[in-house]
Amino acid sequence: MQVNEYKPLIVAFCCNWCSYAGADLAGNNRLAYPADVKIIRVPCSCRVNPMFILRAFQRGADGVIICGCHPGDCHYTSGNYFTRRRMAALFSMLDFLGIEKERTRVEWVSAAEGAKFAATMNDFVQTVTALGQNKRLEDLRCKK
Ligand code: FES
Repeated sequence: MQVNEYKPLIVAFCCNWCSYAGADLAGNNRLAYPADVKIIRVPCSCRVNPMFILRAFQRGADGVIICGCHPGDCHYTSGNYFTRRRMAALFSMLDFLGIEKERTRVEWVSAAEGAKFAATMNDFVQTVTALGQNKRLEDLRCKK
């Protein structure tokens, strides 16, 4: 018997210096998080252009999370402060467009926080799974 279980597609932008290393640590410590999380490594969380997020939703993502260094720890001094402000504005605009706020998140994960990375991803996937599939902004031409 085949059960058609819904698995959300999650895009995680991780900054190279902290969060990506945190994801690596989670892997090295064999801490499980769903394989549906697609990690995209960026030099800094502030490298994530709002268009990347719109594009992810257009391409069928059900949730987008941005992970960066803790405030004060950004390797480019203040990149994550820009991220925080930029994403707060973008996420409320997306909420206005019908993409629930729970589908987007910014988290600070350091290179030593493998356990936090895994826990954050598990929690985010659980939240997005409860919301169900995202239909807003999806471009059907991008469907395979
Ligand atoms: Fe990690 Fe800027 S380098 S948030």
